[in-house]
Amino acid sequence: MCGIVGYSGPNNSVGPIIEGLSRLEYRGYDSAGICLKINNELQILKKEGKLENLKELINSQKPFSNIGIGHTRWATHGAVTTDNAHPHGNEIFAVVHNGIIENAGTLKKELQAEGFQFKSQTDSEVFLVLLTKFFKQGNSTLKSISKAFETITGNSAFVIMEKATDKLYALKRSAPLVVGENKDLREAYVSSDPFALVGFAPKIYFPQDGVICEGTVTTCEVNLNFYELDLTPSNRYKFQSNSMSVDATSKGHYEHYMLKEIHEQPALIDKLAAFYIKNEGRKVLNELKGFKCDEWHLTACGTAWHAGLVIKNYFEQINRQRASVDIASEFRYKNPILNKGEVGLFISQSGETADTLACQELCKEKGIPTYSIVNVEGSTLFRNADKNFLIHAGVEIGVASTKAFTLQALTGYLMSRAMEGTLDDSRLFSEIKLLSTRVAELCSQAESIKEVAEKIYTQKGFIFTGRGKYFPIAFEGALKLKEIAYVHAEGYAAGELKHGPIALIDESIVNIAIVGPELLEKTISNVEEVKARRGFIVIVGPKNHPEIEHLADAYIPLDFNGLDNLSPLYVNVALQFLAYHIAKLKGTDIDKPRNLAKSVTVE
Ligand code: AGP
Repeated sequence: MCGIVGYSGPNNSVGPIIEGLSRLEYRGYDSAGICLKINNELQILKKEGKLENLKELINSQKPFSNIGIGHTRWATHGAVTTDNAHPHGNEIFAVVHNGIIENAGTLKKELQAEGFQFKSQTDSEVFLVLLTKFFKQGNSTLKSISKAFETITGNSAFVIMEKATDKLYALKRSAPLVVGENKDLREAYVSSDPFALVGFAPKIYFPQDGVICEGTVTTCEVNLNFYELDLTPSNRYKFQSNSMSVDATSKGHYEHYMLKEIHEQPALIDKLAAFYIKNEGRKVLNELKGFKCDEWHLTACGTAWHAGLVIKNYFEQINRQRASVDIASEFRYKNPILNKGEVGLFISQSGETADTLACQELCKEKGIPTYSIVNVEGSTLFRNADKNFLIHAGVEIGVASTKAFTLQALTGYLMSRAMEGTLDDSRLFSEIKLLSTRVAELCSQAESIKEVAEKIYTQKGFIFTGRGKYFPIAFEGALKLKEIAYVHAEGYAAGELKHGPIALIDESIVNIAIVGPELLEKTISNVEEVKARRGFIVIVGPKNHPEIEHLADAYIPLDFNGLDNLSPLYVNVALQFLAYHIAKLKGTDIDKPRNLAKSVTVE
């Protein structure tokens, strides 16, 4: 997902832009750039690679500019090169873009046939050339933006600056965009994420699709105006105060954001329980009391999909309601069977995942209510949902999702208990308190998990296995390891190994076996099948169990007592630590793993 930050005001735009872009680095990118106005000319500085490279370039020139737009690019069209980095500009405009222009190829050919030149391989530059073409035909800047935007297809957000004025323009279609203002300092801001504007813009606005935002800063005030594409004034935007705290940007005493976020889980579990059982979240949750639907269509990607599998178990086992869980990129193209009386439930940390948003759109087109379990308030998923169940995880900076998974699944559990009508059951609050206590114990014993990691981190392959409620955790544990340690790992139903995967087993393969108290004997016999073929056995299972201690080559003992429904979330934290320590031993980039973005806003 690309990052966008723009500034216009009396101060140097370089500071807020670079600070904002550095807050968005966690999302993953491969080049960065900025456009400034120097001696009334648009000057673009951009470099492939990390933001540091751009900072060095800027520091070598020490520019001052009252207006600027910055961008971190996650390449979709065109290689990772300086030419393909944003902003894209000419003598009139400069543009940054997040998303994909789906008809860029056709438009580029048409524009080239009209004699327009291109400097890059990107789809984004097509918007700049279209904009310039319409402007040169005598249209106003606003009209040119509108015409260019109506010409392109696909999900995109654009921010534009022009040589002639100190105005910023922005608009989007199914992509994240926020504009902000600081009236006291007479500053206007724009970004792809409110987090970039924390501490800068106390007031932020979320324009809806097709609304052109115009930020104008004069010597005495800042004005934000909003227009429809026909240039009539628009009120299709939502306002909120930007109350997020800035300290989320620090790792504190932790070596990695991921480790900090794993350790944040006990407190966040307690906070979520209090929010939904005792405080302001209770109202929205209680609206589910006695609620039934013919089928829940849970849809998500990656870790959020795994959370969906956990939630499916809750809805089926506790509420006896039908729940299907689809991978969003599959659901959107499979012509799903959607009927009246059913509900779409979308799970997403960022609320900006393109595939998940497309599924929400599909359900809305079919007249199906859409609910979200989401972390980012004001995200596209959040704004387009009929009901939102926020997970209050705070900013999750580590690309590998940890606390968001736990809180997504826990929010689903609270929804399940609300439907069951047992939110007032005192045992619920104490059950969740027990979860946070056990997770806190794990956090204090993580050194023992590190010792297990030291035994296995050089192994070639890992098979995570689990049964029943732990089956989704086998998937999640495998994904965590894959994405931060870059090793082959897969999750499997423990009972499924003998139907093929057991052919993989030899001394180079590690079986991370989740052995819960339920179906314990059956799961142990699955482990014995692996042991017989010389696989290295790591058991994550009940403590003080002699048979397990005898069978395991390495053992992560857990205390399942009293957890029941929440034990999968507890087991998963042990696997988060295991993945973290294996990755640390392998020396990979744990917070910003290669090839990954925190939020995948393109198909
Ligand atoms: C999780 O560790 C991954 N970073 C990835 O699978 C992520 O869960 C997925 O891209 C969905 O993101 P979302 O929750 O923001 O929609």
